[in-house]
Amino acid sequence: MDLPFSESFKIKMVENIHRSSRPERETWIKEARYNLFNLRSNQVYIDLLTDSGTGAMSDKQWSEMMLGDESYAGASSYYKMKEAIKEITGFDYFLPTHQGRAAENVLFSAMIKEGDIIPGNTHFDTTKGHIEFRRAHAIDCTIDEAFNTTLDYPFKGNIDVDKLEKVLKSHPKEMIPLIIVTITCNSSGGQPVSMANMKAVRELANKYEIKVFYDSARFAENAYFIKTKEEGYAGKSIREIVREMFSYADGMTMSSKKDAIVNMGGFIGFREKELFEKASMFNILFEGFISYGGMSGRDMNALAQGLYEGTDFNYLETRIRQVAYLGQKLKDYGVPVQYPFGGHAIYVDAKRFLPHFPVEEYVAQTLAVELYLEGGIRGVEIGTLLADRDPETGKNRYPELELVRLTIPRRVYTNNHMDYVFAALANVYDRRHEIKKGFKIVKEAPILRHFTVELERVKN
Ligand code: F0G
Repeated sequence: MDLPFSESFKIKMVENIHRSSRPERETWIKEARYNLFNLRSNQVYIDLLTDSGTGAMSDKQWSEMMLGDESYAGASSYYKMKEAIKEITGFDYFLPTHQGRAAENVLFSAMIKEGDIIPGNTHFDTTKGHIEFRRAHAIDCTIDEAFNTTLDYPFKGNIDVDKLEKVLKSHPKEMIPLIIVTITCNSSGGQPVSMANMKAVRELANKYEIKVFYDSARFAENAYFIKTKEEGYAGKSIREIVREMFSYADGMTMSSKKDAIVNMGGFIGFREKELFEKASMFNILFEGFISYGGMSGRDMNALAQGLYEGTDFNYLETRIRQVAYLGQKLKDYGVPVQYPFGGHAIYVDAKRFLPHFPVEEYVAQTLAVELYLEGGIRGVEIGTLLADRDPETGKNRYPELELVRLTIPRRVYTNNHMDYVFAALANVYDRRHEIKKGFKIVKEAPILRHFTVELERVKN
């Protein structure tokens, strides 16, 4: 008999979780104003809200925590992190920040001014938020294939170089401080960007003399997809692929809560000293001195160790195969999901799940609430609520894709949990024709509203 695939870790510490009853969940979700972010975590059985900061650290990471150097300046933990970043990404300069959006805040303070244009593949919501907060514009140049959830295309995170060139050609370079490539592209389904595409973006950027930064939260998962899908990379190690990827960038922002498998942390990597020095001022202002920037020494140690573990092939294979395990079960059952499966999550296509449902009543949010009611599972809406209103017209922006993201934390749940999630969503799918009414907004914030929005059921 062939031996089956199995996980590359065993479990040393556990945390109990509890199932609840449907009447309990009905009360809780109503109290939460139908916003899953407002639920208490103990009202959730399986939490697939995010893979950000929710991973399980290894025994080695925990032991690194004990070795943290908490000196204000020049801590050995800072140098450990610097060494890991240099070894894995190749960047000589870096600034620690408390998380990914803080890295965006610092970098953009140094680079972006009002009226600027920042092209890229679909920018993550905090990235877009930080761009629009500065009255600049994020231009989405993702390939069209990304918006067809059924099309089997290996690199749906790719940038359409023709769309990008049009943007670069039609604006003076002073208006385009940087291009941002998000690897993997979270907003279009955790989809990878190919090495060929990264190279092509670099060439265009050189031609128009524009900098390229990678939003690198899931860079290691991106490298896994390059290794397993792109011609010429099967024989290369993840670390070699990662080094090549970053060789085409001028720098990176990192939310270490994802591929560095820590609960908190981030950084900015730079190739050039000049920009690093300019950004350092903002780091000191917003985050802390440049040798800790919002992180404690122990957290920097765990992060450095996490960068090595996160770029290990066996770890990545376990992780990405678990995501695909859930995705394949759902796909086989007929549940419409983004395909190929992304690295960190399965994205359920809510418009195809509920084809007759009015998008004005927040179709993806409605599906996310139904899944919670069914099984106590917390997913997250990636749709109209997340897309915010157009800052100029004040109207809802209806994105092409209305998705429910089932985000799998790293090294946390077993495949039995995945079976449970599958069964719950299959049950909702079986009764999809009964789901006819959605929600209306009763309260919302002007930016990043999905975190705090309050909803009410639409009445007949
Ligand atoms: N960039 C990407 C691609 C992200 O996915 C995130 C966060 C950030 C930047 C911001 O990083 O949270 O550390 O400030 N994504 C989380 C998610 C929140 O659930 O996908 P952060």
